[in-house]
Amino acid sequence: MKAIKTLITTVGAVGLSLTAGYAAAAGADLYAGKFCASCHGVGGKAPVMGSYPNLAGQNAEYCVEQIKNIRDGVRGGGNTGMMRPMVAGVTDDEATEICGYLASE
Ligand code: HEC
Repeated sequence: MKAIKTLITTVGAVGLSLTAGYAAAAGADLYAGKFCASCHGVGGKAPVMGSYPNLAGQNAEYCVEQIKNIRDGVRGGGNTGMMRPMVAGVTDDEATEICGYLASE
C-alpha cells in the first residue's frame, strides 16, 4: 500500500513539473514567435534601444496588465505607438503565458 502511495505521489509530482515546464516553454515560444525579441531582446533582457523597456524579471501581473492596456488603448503616449500593433493580436491567455516566462527570466 505504501509503495502504491509513493508511486502515485511521484507520478503526480512529475506531472506537475511537466506542466510547469510546458507553460514556460509556451511563453518562450510565443515571445519568440511574435517577434517581441526584435525590440526587447532575447529573454526581455537586452532592449535594442535605450527607450525600450527591459521585461525580464518583471512582475507577471503588472506585465499582463501593461500588455492589455497598450493593446486596448488604455495606455498611450510615450512609445506605445510602436508597441500597440505588436500586441494587437495577443490574447489575454497568451499575455499570461508570455509574462510568466518573462518573470522567470
Ligand atoms: C517595435 C518594437 C516593439 C516590439 C516588437 C514589442 N514591443 Fe513591447 N514595448 C515597446 C516599447 C517602445 C515599449 C514602451 C512603451 C511606452 O513608451 O509606453 C514597450 C512596452 C512593453 C511592455 C510594458 C513594459 C513596462 O514596463 O511597462 C510590455 C510588457 C511589452 N512591451 C511586451 C511586449 C511583448 C510581449 C511583445 C511581443 C508580443 C512586444 N512587447 C513587442 C516596443 C516593442
